[in-house]
Amino acid sequence: MTMKRIVIGVTGASGTIYAIDLLKKMHDMPDIETHLVLSTWAKKNLALETDYSFQEISELADYVYSNSDQGAKIASGSFLHDGMIIVPASMKTVAGIAYGFADNLIGRAADVTIKEQRKLIIVPRESPLSVIHLENLTKLAKIGAQIIPPIPAFYNHPASIQDLIDHQTMKILDSLHITNDYDKRWDGD
Ligand SMILES: Cc1cc2nc3c(=O)[nH]c(=O)nc-3n(C[C@H](O)[C@H](O)[C@H](O)COP(=O)(O)O)c2cc1C
Repeated sequence: MTMKRIVIGVTGASGTIYAIDLLKKMHDMPDIETHLVLSTWAKKNLALETDYSFQEISELADYVYSNSDQGAKIASGSFLHDGMIIVPASMKTVAGIAYGFADNLIGRAADVTIKEQRKLIIVPRESPLSVIHLENLTKLAKIGAQIIPPIPAFYNHPASIQDLIDHQTMKILDSLHITNDYDKRWDGD
């Protein structure tokens, strides 16, 4: 069994529940080691949008860091990992990463992930998207980041919010080559 080390950044965009779901599923996978950072506004949205406390989301991860800890191990390229996911990603954090403005741990860990040419997955959440947002996301996609917006599919007839979230988590796990079947896959008509 090969252990996968995954860094998860959670920012202050709407949709903290996507991060919780991903963490819950990864928590149940013995071969995944998670490294979690929440921004200040992610913590606010966690309280606004969910019934989870910071303590409860922290307990789903193997390691938790403060977003102001620029000396954390995930801030260095010498820390080897198999991918970083920012879920949900605010437009402010997307802009910071697109311009290398690494003034917090999420931005720095993403900057390092890019320079080390490791996998970076961004789950951007904003609507409508301005040209600024689209250009920043395009820039990140061009340098190899994978943009996986939380856009539901309806060919599987989702019946609940959890079905929609499962689909998004499946997309993220698929991108990391983590075997899963959290949602039905399109298998031809
Ligand atoms: C309830 C709430 C919902 C928000 N939703 C979004 C959003 O969907 N997308 C976004 O880009 N910013 C959103 N914001 C604004 C961000 O939280 C704000 O830009 C913040 O500075 C982002 O900082 P961070 O990326 O360090 O978390 C929201 C703020 C609040 C309070």
